[in-house]
Amino acid sequence: MSLLIKGGEIVTADARYVADIWCEGETITRIDRDIAAPAGAEVIDAKGRYVFPGFIDPHVHIHLPFMGTMAKDTYVTGSQAALAGGTTTLIEMCCPAHTDDALAGFELWMAQAAGKSACDFTFHMGVTRFDEKTAGQLREIVRRGISSFKVFLAYKGAFGVDDGELYRTLKLAKELGVIVTAHCENETLVAERQRELLAAGKTDPGQHHESRPPRVEAEGVHHLMTFAELTGAATYIVHLSCAEALAEAVAARQRGVRVEVETLIQYLVLDKTYAELPNFEGAKYVMSPPLRDARNQAVLWSALRSGLIQTVATDHAPFDFKGQKPMGKDDFTKIPNGIPSLEERINLLYTYGVKTGKIDLHTLVDVASTKVAKLFDLFPRKGTIQPGSDADLVVFDPAYRGTISARTQAMNVDYSAFEGWKLEGRPSAVTVRGQVAVRDGKFCGTIGRGRFLQRQPSHF
Ligand code: URP
Ligand code: ZN
Ligand code: ZN
Repeated sequence: MSLLIKGGEIVTADARYVADIWCEGETITRIDRDIAAPAGAEVIDAKGRYVFPGFIDPHVHIHLPFMGTMAKDTYVTGSQAALAGGTTTLIEMCCPAHTDDALAGFELWMAQAAGKSACDFTFHMGVTRFDEKTAGQLREIVRRGISSFKVFLAYKGAFGVDDGELYRTLKLAKELGVIVTAHCENETLVAERQRELLAAGKTDPGQHHESRPPRVEAEGVHHLMTFAELTGAATYIVHLSCAEALAEAVAARQRGVRVEVETLIQYLVLDKTYAELPNFEGAKYVMSPPLRDARNQAVLWSALRSGLIQTVATDHAPFDFKGQKPMGKDDFTKIPNGIPSLEERINLLYTYGVKTGKIDLHTLVDVASTKVAKLFDLFPRKGTIQPGSDADLVVFDPAYRGTISARTQAMNVDYSAFEGWKLEGRPSAVTVRGQVAVRDGKFCGTIGRGRFLQRQPSHF
C-alpha cells in the first residue's frame, strides 16, 4: 500500500508549506517537493487544499449506559462519523457503573470497539469506585496501555466518586505517571438546586442551567485543584464551559498546580438560549455543564488563542430527540445529557473559528490534534505530519460550501444541534494509517481496521 498526497498546503501546529507527502504502508516516509508517483501508487491531488494531521477527539462517548438509557452510536456508526469530520483517532471515556469492577469495565468497553472501529481509538479509564481491588486493577489496565484516568465530581449515585476515592485515585495516578481527566461540578449543589427548582414547578429544559450555574462548575474546578495540589498529580479538566471555571484553573496553574483545560465546540458556538427554546426543543441542547451565557464564548476563544485552554473536544453523547430526550418531558433532571457533535467539530472550528478570525490555522491543528497527542502520550505517532508518523491525514477543501443537516449526517441520532448551519470548508479526503477512509466527503474505509492505541504514561 503506497499513497502520494500531491501539492497540498501542509499545515501543522507550527509550520505551513506546500509539499508532497509519500506514505509507505501505514507511515509517512518522505515529505518533499515534486515526488514522482511510482506505478501502482494511489495519488490524491491536494492542490488548493490544506493537508492537516489527522484530528484527535479527546472526549467521546460511544458505549454509554447513562441516565436510564444508552447513547445511540456504536463504533461502526461513530467511527464513520468521526472520519467524515476529519477525526482519525478518538479517545473514549470508559465509564463502568459504580457497582462494576474497573477491569471488567475496561474489557467491556474494549469489546465494543475491537473489530468494529474504522478509526484508531484509546480510552480514558473511568474510576467510578476506588476500593481495595481497584488499585490493583488500575495498575493492570495501565500495563495494558492506558495512560489516563477519568473521574466525575458530578452524577451523585452514578459515576461520581467521593473525596476519599478522588484522593486515592490522584495518588495512584501520580505514582504511575497517569494524567487524570475530571468532570468538575459540585454534585451536592446540583442536587439541592434541582430539588428546589422541581418543587417550585420549574420543569422545562431551560431550568437545567439554573440547576448548574457557572459557580457550581467553578466550585468543582476549585475542589479538584485543591486535591491536585496536595497530591502533585497531573490533571485535565474536561468540558470547561465558562469564565468562572477557567479563572479557578488559571489561578491554580499560577500557584504550580498541574492542570490542562479542555473546552468543547458546543460552548464555543452555542449559548444557553438554545436550551431555552420552546416546545421542548431546548432538550436537544441539554448537556452538563450546561450551555452558558453568550459572553463566555469570547473568553473561551481568547483562551484558545493565548494557550490558557489546551484542547477542543466534543463530549459526543448522542440521544435521540424523539425517543430519548422525552424521558425528561416533565422533569428536566431526567433529560439524557449530551449534544452530539463528533462529526462537526473540525468543520465548525474552521467555519466559525478560523474563517471569522477568532483562531488561526495553527491553533486549529494544535487544539484539535497536536496538543491532544502530546497530553495523552500519542505524539509523534499521531498529531503531526513528519516522516515516521502514522499516515493519518486530512485533505481539507476550503472551497466547499454546504449546510449541516441530520438528514445527511453519519452520526446515528435523529437530530442535529446545528441544523441548517452553513459550512465553509470540509475534509474532502481522510486517511487512516495510509488507507483512504473518506473520499469526496464520503466514508470509504474499513470497519474493524481501527486499532487500539497503546500508550505509556509520561506525567510523573
Ligand atoms: O452532558 C454530558 N456531558 N454528557 C455526557 C456525560 C458527561 O458528563 O461527560
Ligand atoms: Zn462530563
Ligand atoms: Zn463526557
